Amino acid sequence: MRVVVLVSGSGSLLQAVLDAATDPNYPVRIVAVGADRSGTTGLERADSAGIPTFTCRVSDHPNREEWDRALAEECAAHQPDLVVSAGFMKLVGPDFLARFGGRYLNSHPALLPSFPGMHGVRDALEYGVRVTGCTLFVVDEGVDTGPILAQQAVEVLPGDDEESLHERIKAVERRTLVRTLERLATHGWTVRGRKVSIGVTAN
Ligand code: GRF
Repeated sequence: MRVVVLVSGSGSLLQAVLDAATDPNYPVRIVAVGADRSGTTGLERADSAGIPTFTCRVSDHPNREEWDRALAEECAAHQPDLVVSAGFMKLVGPDFLARFGGRYLNSHPALLPSFPGMHGVRDALEYGVRVTGCTLFVVDEGVDTGPILAQQAVEVLPGDDEESLHERIKAVERRTLVRTLERLATHGWTVRGRKVSIGVTAN
C-alpha cells in the first residue's frame, strides 16, 4: 500500500512507520512525505530514509483554496492509496477531500469525540479526566469528527503535565498507526457513513 505522510513537527509518528517499513514483510510503503513548512525534523527523517519530500506552504499561495488544491496535487503526484496526517497542523479543504475523501487519516492525541482541536492533551488534562488516549480516524469536513478506525486508552498519572502525558500518548499513537496501517494494507477498508470497517463491509 502506497502512503503519503504529512507532517508539521518532529515526525516521531512518521519515524515509527519508516522503521516498520524497513521490514520487507511490512505491507506499507511511504512513497513521499509532505510538510506545510520547511526545516521540520519530519522532513529530515524522510530525507535520511531516502524518501522524496515536498513542502507546500500556505504563504506561497494566493489563498487557502489554492493551497489546498496544490497540496492535493503534490500528494496525488505520488499516486498514494492513502494519505496520513501525522502531526500535520493544517485543516485541509474541499478540494483535498474530494480527491482523498475516505483515504485521508489523522491521528489525534485524545479519545474523540472528547477533546477535539489543537490542544487535545491540554484540554483533557485541564478537564481532569483519569483516562485519555489516542484516536486514528478518517478525516471528513469537520474538525476531528470523522469515522473512527482505532482508539487506545492512556491513563493520566498523578503529576502529569501536558508534555509527559503527550509523550506517553505518542508512544501509543505510534503503535496504533503502525498496526492499523498494516491491517488496512492487508485487508482493505470500507467507509459507510460514520462507520469504517477493516476487511469487511460496514453495516
Ligand atoms: C501527535 O500527538 C499527533 O496526534 C498530533 O501531533 C503529534 C505528532 O507528533 N497531532 P510527532 O510530530 O509525530 O512527533
